Amino acid sequence: MIGRLLCICGLLTVTPHLQATVSLELRHLWEDKPLATPSRAFVTRSGETIELSRLAYLLSDLRLLGRGNSTSSGTWLSRNNWFAHVDASRPGGISRLHLGDLPRRTYTVLQFQVGLDQETNEADPSLHPADHPLNPNLNNLHWTPQGGYIFLAMEGHLRNGGNTGGFAYHLGNSWNRTVISLPLSLEFTDPVTIAIDVHLDRLFNGDEPLQIAANPSTHSRKGDGIAQLLKSRLPSAFAIREIRQTHLRARPESPAPGNLIGTPYRFRLARGFPIPKLPTAPPLTNEGVALGKRLFHDPLLSGTSKQSCSSCHQIAHALSDSRRFSEGASGSLGTRNAMPLFNLAWKDSFFWDGRAPSLRVQALQPIQNPIEMHESLPNAIAKLKASNYGPLFQAAFGSAGITKERLGIALEQFLLTRTSYHSRFDQAARGEGGLTDQEKRGFELFMTEYDPRRGLKGADCFHCHGGAFFTDHRFHNNGLRDDDDRGLESVTGRSTDRNRFITPSLRNIALTAPYMHDGRFQTLEAVIEHYDSGLHRSSTLDPNLAKHPPEGLGLGMEDRNALVAFLKTLTDPQFLPAAKTGN
Ligand code: HEC
Ligand code: HEC
Repeated sequence: MIGRLLCICGLLTVTPHLQATVSLELRHLWEDKPLATPSRAFVTRSGETIELSRLAYLLSDLRLLGRGNSTSSGTWLSRNNWFAHVDASRPGGISRLHLGDLPRRTYTVLQFQVGLDQETNEADPSLHPADHPLNPNLNNLHWTPQGGYIFLAMEGHLRNGGNTGGFAYHLGNSWNRTVISLPLSLEFTDPVTIAIDVHLDRLFNGDEPLQIAANPSTHSRKGDGIAQLLKSRLPSAFAIREIRQTHLRARPESPAPGNLIGTPYRFRLARGFPIPKLPTAPPLTNEGVALGKRLFHDPLLSGTSKQSCSSCHQIAHALSDSRRFSEGASGSLGTRNAMPLFNLAWKDSFFWDGRAPSLRVQALQPIQNPIEMHESLPNAIAKLKASNYGPLFQAAFGSAGITKERLGIALEQFLLTRTSYHSRFDQAARGEGGLTDQEKRGFELFMTEYDPRRGLKGADCFHCHGGAFFTDHRFHNNGLRDDDDRGLESVTGRSTDRNRFITPSLRNIALTAPYMHDGRFQTLEAVIEHYDSGLHRSSTLDPNLAKHPPEGLGLGMEDRNALVAFLKTLTDPQFLPAAKTGN
């Protein structure tokens, strides 16, 4: 134990020249070579070849020990309420974290924890602001059904011979919170960066190298040996590389918030949903949403003036359609299944391959797409001008001008307000009604890992379809037999992204058949058959599925029926024929 805890104090108020702006930089390494996820291949000391596809973790409780003198042994300065989310998929695998202004002193120890204390871990995650590191929508580390967060998520592939297995290590639960103490000699310059190396090989290659093939997963349940091993090795993985003067870079100007025209829209948040990052330039207004809604239903936006957005995004199908590929205005068929439109405010990329970075960008694409609405933007705008849209644009934007930017913003405003959280499952979760035994069994299977070594034989769906939205909003290859559509790879150009598609929400899934990006499965039974024993093992198959044995999950008929029964509890009655909701 380094240093004694004499006093824990908050940040002192000190005059500016006695303060320094301090940042942390975390760089990830394998045998001293920098690593970013998805990583290249490494050989572990036990001879297994692995690639890391995900490395993310949470830090908390940062303290610095000020140097003592002959009469005192130093004072801890503690950064209250400091949390950080580190993700090695950032450029170069490097995360930069801001510690704020600290008193200029000599510090001898830097300490933080991987993970969270019990109270923070169990607190309601939906209360964190949109940009808080513990907002589940931002870090994707909130854990269902265990509750609390995954403190450290490490996933990857095993590449031994023709084998394409996977591993998924999820360290969580407050008893697995781990203190990292790093000796330091920090003589402040201002501003200063403390650069830390995180040696991942030390987690795998300790005295007894980890046999990954034999231990492909941990979910940190009590008594889990892999979790204990990772926890015990974590402190040795972190080391301070250097302390250097930071070169200040000008911060990008944040866009000026748009003028607020009209009445602010009251965005309703379901209990348990994280706070979304809504646009501020301009903010949502009733007038903007109403204009967007009218445009969404208006066939004028198509080349033939006969097809609207709502032709393919129909209320009865949770704003998707029931066809495998929808037919465009000029009669040609697309190559992808129409996506349902709800809870979009929590997404940060759009389309099956994530190629649109925002809804305002996305919304203009179907209009111009030759196999969809097949209209040019100047034509669409001319038609809107001729049909009395001026006053609606005036009300929403303060002037009657119609531009493509305004068209995109108005459609975005409407799309952002489409939410869905009124299913029977939600009611039951609030204690307002129950689920049948079969539905409960389905939920249990859905939320239980497949880990026969620990006596667990669930359907293991929650890794990707967990949380309030029944999706992690991330891209995975879920083992569909290859087709020409390469998904995320067509956007990033990286072969490690081949056949990765965004995980769809399973809310309203009973209304949105057929399934998958190309609508290849007609029924939920066929989807479950796929996950049970139909996985196609390619090199990018997600580790959470690749870790399953080649013979499959072995789900019996009763379990399959239970899963389907549970999935049907996720239907929101606002989309059912009796509802008059004004979508
Ligand atoms: C011809 C049918 C069709 C029409 C018309 C259509 N869409 Fe779509 N929509 C689709 C398909 C198919 C996809 C998935 C396309 C892909 O991933 O490449 C999609 C995807 C989307 C998405 C992405 C959702 C997500 O979760 O990422 C949004 C948003 C959307 N459409 C909005 C609109 C809007 C707004 C309009 C009208 C301007 C519109 N669509 C018109 C078929 C259509
Ligand atoms: C590794 C992540 C992952 C796991 C685990 C997973 N899924 Fe999926 N799921 C996806 C992705 C990604 C897609 C979309 C794939 C595509 O269309 O190419 C998807 C699609 C689906 C769809 C179709 C949705 C639609 O709108 O078309 C259903 C239904 C589904 N999954 C149910 C399940 C069930 C049930 C389980 C557990 C047995 C499960 N998933 C496990 C990632 C996963």
